[in-house]
Amino acid sequence: VEEEEDVWPCEDVTSPIYDATGARTRIGRLAVMDGDWALKALESAVGAFDAGQGEWPQMSLAERAAAVEAYLAALVARRDEIVEVLVWEICKTSADAAKEFDRTVEFARDVLQALRTAKNEEFADWTVVDGVRARVRRGPVGVCLMLAPFNYPLNEMYAMMIPALLMGNVVVLKLPAIGALAHVLSIDAIRATLPKGVVNFVSGSGRVTLSPVMNTGRVDALGFIGGRRGADALIAAHPHPHRLRVFSQLEGKNMGIVLPDADLDNAVAEIVKGALSFNGQRCTAIKLIMVHEDVADPLTAKLADAIEALKRGLPWDEGVKITPLPETAKPAYLAEVVDDATTKGARIVNPTGADVAGGLFSPAVVADVDATMRLFHEEQFGPVVPIATFSTLDDVVAAAKASWSGQQAAIFTSDAGRAAPLVDALATIVGRVNFNMQCSRGPDVFPFSGRRSSAMGTMSSYEAIRAFSVETLVATRDAERDIA
Ligand code: G3H
Repeated sequence: VEEEEDVWPCEDVTSPIYDATGARTRIGRLAVMDGDWALKALESAVGAFDAGQGEWPQMSLAERAAAVEAYLAALVARRDEIVEVLVWEICKTSADAAKEFDRTVEFARDVLQALRTAKNEEFADWTVVDGVRARVRRGPVGVCLMLAPFNYPLNEMYAMMIPALLMGNVVVLKLPAIGALAHVLSIDAIRATLPKGVVNFVSGSGRVTLSPVMNTGRVDALGFIGGRRGADALIAAHPHPHRLRVFSQLEGKNMGIVLPDADLDNAVAEIVKGALSFNGQRCTAIKLIMVHEDVADPLTAKLADAIEALKRGLPWDEGVKITPLPETAKPAYLAEVVDDATTKGARIVNPTGADVAGGLFSPAVVADVDATMRLFHEEQFGPVVPIATFSTLDDVVAAAKASWSGQQAAIFTSDAGRAAPLVDALATIVGRVNFNMQCSRGPDVFPFSGRRSSAMGTMSSYEAIRAFSVETLVATRDAERDIA
């Protein structure tokens, strides 16, 4: 946002793609706000909401839907630019960046459709129960602070923002430290289609900008997709946490569990996608393989071959699977957790595993991992595939029970009946159990949730409106007269 340089300080945004001099390529400038500027964004939102009496919350749903549709149309007109910015800024492959954009628009349209058909809405029409005639009006929560992670900076922000806006909320978006520029390209569309103060941006350090915002107690809802410690810190900064609605999708240490009767070729194909698409930088990535000891050797060998063959390169290279990592500190962190494992007896089994060149970290398959190692517990969020073995299903359940994670699991077996007790056990620990397929969030009409430290609330095009809305019951014993 160069035009704002005279208003607040800006700093370079760089890409993980190196330029001819071997440095990260400069791709833009972004405002580095301080707490006072962030408070101005909050004031703007509080004013636009005006305790529910503002223009936006008082509009009819149809009016808000029309404005959101106009906004989406303006955004779609800039699709290619936004996709290109995503490619440069977060280094998603061109195909995946385009998918992120298209999925975002499709999600928004599904939310609109769900609202129009009042999907999942109970008592939307007048209903009489025990002589009380009532109906539910669903309305906004108020001022929503939203944060999305760098791996889906557009999609996951919009998966919260669009339903929130449609319900009449106003939002303060804290742009991710990596992945902010795609949002900068949306500013014109916001100005052209939505009333002033309905969407507000904060950029800069989260610690600096958001503590003052939360301390005011004027944030009514927090939509947080990202690391669990960040969510904890923000919630704790609110003076009355019980008044804060929290919707979160956080981390996952998802297990890929390979039973002895699994089709190993299918398991390998799904684990490669599940563990390494977008370099493993997905909350839903498979982050720990638990393989039965009888098939550990063949699975490890097949996995090492398949991963070694993945093409590394730039995001627009044909067939590329592994691209530079946007987080500058990530290669060092990954090396550290791999070293921790190898010094305790684990081994890297693919020849180029953990090699670093430029921003590229070659995916490492690490065998003989056990619970004494950091890789067994930490969410590596990068191209490292730890493999641990088990003897009985009880071992798997014990590991799942002991984990902080409650997001997903993937079970690979050719005998669903034999795995049924495992599904029963996991169903009280994680939010989704996958059979013979990788872990993932979509299709987006299905509920995406989690347990433990992985999530609070459900994300889906049908459920999202609930996260950012409150029901008001209008009730009467008067069977004759209509009320609003
Ligand atoms: O990073 C977390 C995302 O919710 C994962 O979504 O499974 O569609 O890649 P995905």
